[in-house]
Amino acid sequence: MPMRNLKRVRPLLLLAIFGAVMTALAACTPHHGQSTFGPAGPIAERQKDLFVLIFWVAMAVLVVVEAVIIVLTLKFRRRASTTGVPEQTHGNQRLEIAWTIAPALILAVIAIPTVSMIFSLDREATSAAGNLEVVVTGHQWWWEVQYTGEDVVSANEVHIPVGVPVRVVLESDDVIHSFWVPKLAGKVDLIPTRTNQLVMEASEPGVFFGQCAEFCGEAHALMRFRVVAHQPDDFRAWLDGMRRPALAPEPGSLAATGQGIFAGNCSMCHSASTADARSARAERSVQHTRQAAFLADPKGTRIISAPNLTHLATRLTLGAGLVDFNEAELTAWIKDPGSVKPGNRMEALAQVYRAGGLSDDQIKAVVAYLMTLKPAPPGESSLPPAPSADPVARGKQIFASAGCSGCHSTGSDAILGPGLGGIAQRAANRKSGMSASDYLHESIVNPTAYIVQGFSPVMPGNFGQTLTAADIDALVAYLETLP
Ligand code: CUA
Repeated sequence: MPMRNLKRVRPLLLLAIFGAVMTALAACTPHHGQSTFGPAGPIAERQKDLFVLIFWVAMAVLVVVEAVIIVLTLKFRRRASTTGVPEQTHGNQRLEIAWTIAPALILAVIAIPTVSMIFSLDREATSAAGNLEVVVTGHQWWWEVQYTGEDVVSANEVHIPVGVPVRVVLESDDVIHSFWVPKLAGKVDLIPTRTNQLVMEASEPGVFFGQCAEFCGEAHALMRFRVVAHQPDDFRAWLDGMRRPALAPEPGSLAATGQGIFAGNCSMCHSASTADARSARAERSVQHTRQAAFLADPKGTRIISAPNLTHLATRLTLGAGLVDFNEAELTAWIKDPGSVKPGNRMEALAQVYRAGGLSDDQIKAVVAYLMTLKPAPPGESSLPPAPSADPVARGKQIFASAGCSGCHSTGSDAILGPGLGGIAQRAANRKSGMSASDYLHESIVNPTAYIVQGFSPVMPGNFGQTLTAADIDALVAYLETLP
């Protein structure tokens, strides 16, 4: 290139390099929600300190190596007076010993604190289980969250108390994911068939961004979550709320209509009733069953593992941390999930979307119902307030509110229990001399008496105590109407 052109290009080049460096540095600002340079807890702080140590060691190596390169380049460059081939040298014992020992020393300086921190954090994760243990299961592309010993299940939001180290147990139901909350703890992979763990701690209340950090398929970049750190009392209150069912919608209300639509179209994939301890304990096997259905027929299945929606209306975000939770976003999500989160499986696989989706009126009703999903005030009943005079309508409400719809579809799809479409006909066909309604009644109060072949005996046995005789009669009347 002629000298004149080079002169013109050089300022532009410098400007470009300066711009690139500043952009790179700006990404490191500690104020950014996902910056590891602004730790919000002691564990992330220690990890940041280790990173800073490694950074300065690497900087020292960079400076020394670059300086040597520059000096040698200038000193031994070809000059106008140079003629012929420069003097050829080979081998320098002292130099070779030096550059063998120096990297070993540098690596030792980095490795000793790194390896010892890996082991000490793993020990701390194990002992942190005494404070709180959260089991996070990765799914394409959302997070299942369970609280060991608390019978609480949620999704895409991890609630923790401040000031205590929390053990996070990491598992995956499909491919490798990676759990990463930059301000609270370093990332650890979730690997199918393995159990990993990490420890995290927040020193102040707040909402912290989390992100899947391992490429896991189409919606990987959209597999986000939030960690919500509470003062210990608020955390207890949150746990208690998660164990209190939502108030049942007023009979005849839009939300009640939505509850029925949800039970018939959504509940085979989404549990919304794990405020009940038994449903919470069954949730893992329900998700396993859904995942098995998907694996058996990835394109044809109508049941897929899906986020738990219990007390959805208390969540901060929708679609695994993608958009704020509110009525408008929820409506947009149900109407066209692919426009909010391309690649999500709901639109591609769920029966209701294959059949053309819900109408706008149905969506309005489902949204009205979902917006009621929050803990009832302490001491208030979760069953429908004024019993409906029509036993079939009453039974339909109970089917949705007592937790039946979490395990049984009203069609032919098997979830954890058999689909109940046509159950009256099947009951009548049994050569037991028992009427269909007696059989259904007995199956509800004494579920182990009639286990349908191929299903596990997991149905709770206390519906005879939690439901009144009139409620059970209404439920049976409703079940008998299922075509
Ligand atoms: Cu899950 Cu990337």
